[in-house]
Amino acid sequence: MSKVTVVGAGKYGSTTVQRIAEWDIVDEVVMTDIVEGLPQGLALDMNQSRPLLGYRTLVKGTNAYADTAGSDVVVITAGLPRKPGMSRMDLLGVNAGIVTAVTEEIVKHSPEAIIVVVTNPLDQMTTLAAQVSGFPKNRVLGQAGMLDSARFAHFISEVTGVDILKVHAVTLGSHGDTMVPVPSLCTVDDKPLTDVLSAEAIEGIVDRTRNGGGEIVAYLKTGSAYYAPSAAAASMVKAIVTQAGTTMPVCAWMDGEYGIKGVYLGVVAKLGARGVDEIVELDLTADELSSLQEAAVAVAQKVTDLDNLG
Ligand code: LAC
Repeated sequence: MSKVTVVGAGKYGSTTVQRIAEWDIVDEVVMTDIVEGLPQGLALDMNQSRPLLGYRTLVKGTNAYADTAGSDVVVITAGLPRKPGMSRMDLLGVNAGIVTAVTEEIVKHSPEAIIVVVTNPLDQMTTLAAQVSGFPKNRVLGQAGMLDSARFAHFISEVTGVDILKVHAVTLGSHGDTMVPVPSLCTVDDKPLTDVLSAEAIEGIVDRTRNGGGEIVAYLKTGSAYYAPSAAAASMVKAIVTQAGTTMPVCAWMDGEYGIKGVYLGVVAKLGARGVDEIVELDLTADELSSLQEAAVAVAQKVTDLDNLG
């Protein structure tokens, strides 16, 4: 695979492009945006960093979807970010229009692409991209679980003092209020998290993880997080294009796994050339399983809000 498009040259989009390019895993990354000059200028700047960092991938900045033609993977970052005090759901109406228009262009120019959605509200925008594209559901997925798991891991490392690279954390569910952090499957230094921290301490970390995006929005005041989000989105692209059989938490179409069907939800999946190759069913506690099922109901309800927009 050799061509990836990122739609949106804001902070999230451009940082995603930068990470993919610097990993040198594809021939070309196309960055497109409606703002004239922005993707072109950023692309030129990135391309000039190639001899310094020692990679070959070229970035093409453009305002024309024709340049995205034949992409293997398209990442949709286009849309408005949250302002302080806003929930991701407050973005529904305006971002639904943007994601619909972008998806129509993707279908026209890259009918075989795998679409990775990061625009909020994530679960609904992923559903929308799947509906508008008409692509098989395995070829449309959303980014959230990687980010939420990374935030969870960071907070666990901070509280326990254990090396971040020895923390394994996982979150499932929605990218929002019904996020389902899974303490029973988290480990620190190969020990179960539940043996290392009290239930109360874990609950504190879980809360902070659930509000992880909002905490950063409150600091920044304009715009939302993008370093960890772009690392998460770029990691998904890498898993797809390198076809290394990597498993990671993503927003994927449920077809009976965990007893859940017909909804996009955050679960661990194996990524590859088909997008989602397979959903991995984890061994959850009864409480975690029922939280995941509740999250599915909540997302399905919010998809109804999306349908009501017309
Ligand atoms: C966040 C946004 C990107 O969680 O959803 O920071």
